Amino acid sequence: MKLKGKVIIITGAKSGIGLATAIRFASEGAKVVVADIKDAHQEVSEITRRQAEALFVQVDVSNGSQVAALIEKTLAAFGRLDVLVNNAGIELTKKITETTEAEWEHLMNVNLKGVFLCSKAAIPVMQRNGGGVIVNVASELGLVGGSEIAAYSASKGGVVQLTKAMAIDHAGDGIRVNCVAPGPVSTPLLEAIIENSSNPEQERQSIVGKTLLKRLARPEEIANVIVFMASDESSYMTGSVVVVDGGWTAH
Ligand SMILES: NC(=O)c1ccc[n+]([C@@H]2O[C@H](COP(=O)([O-])OP(=O)(O)OC[C@H]3O[C@@H](n4cnc5c(N)ncnc54)[C@H](O)[C@@H]3O)[C@@H](O)[C@H]2O)c1
Repeated sequence: MKLKGKVIIITGAKSGIGLATAIRFASEGAKVVVADIKDAHQEVSEITRRQAEALFVQVDVSNGSQVAALIEKTLAAFGRLDVLVNNAGIELTKKITETTEAEWEHLMNVNLKGVFLCSKAAIPVMQRNGGGVIVNVASELGLVGGSEIAAYSASKGGVVQLTKAMAIDHAGDGIRVNCVAPGPVSTPLLEAIIENSSNPEQERQSIVGKTLLKRLARPEEIANVIVFMASDESSYMTGSVVVVDGGWTAH
């Protein structure tokens, strides 16, 4: 896949899709920067034990100066930046009428402003390198609606459009920008939604029942697509939205 030696930042890489992606990149010989608001030294140790190079940087993606420090620490450790995976995200299962202004702002700051800040900091470095790749993690809920998920859905719709606009602006710099739109993935984020619902078993069956494949995805099944989108095997793709949702949005 020609990812050996490439330097890759993955935000939200302590857990779920981001962690599976970091492990997969590391197995391809890439140097991975595990960027997360929570301590991920243990996850990084597990990656380096497998003979891969990895660095943990604690960062809140919604904070511009912390994001600038993330890029500086990456360059100090590895000297370049080839791929940025904007994966960090949070959810909120509420209707708009129940969503407070503070909740809306926090969710938008992490899910949408985080993509803006990380991309804004990474692109000049990639321009100096002569190119790079950005993969944004949106959601099927950025393409279709869902019940009691309005702010999240709006943030992910924003990520889809930001992907296309950045692809247009930076194709000439040799930077490809794509996004993946996962369906339901068995991660702490989704498991918390299920467990916090009034009837967890019914909620799980309802989510699974909306897929054609009648199951949740494993994080590795999304990581496989992200790694493909970051590699030269997707060299003619930019501005694309790749839906990986077990068929949820097929009907
Ligand atoms: N799980 C799903 O069903 C699903 C479906 C579609 C899209 N997604 C998206 O995939 C991405 C990863 O989600 P996941 O399911 O793996 O969730 P997860 O909760 O397992 O992992 C998210 C990670 O992001 C980190 N994070 C949260 N806020 C942060 C911040 N401000 N700065 C830096 N890191 C922060 C968390 O600490 C966590 O490690 C999210 O963007 C999510 O919206 C998930």
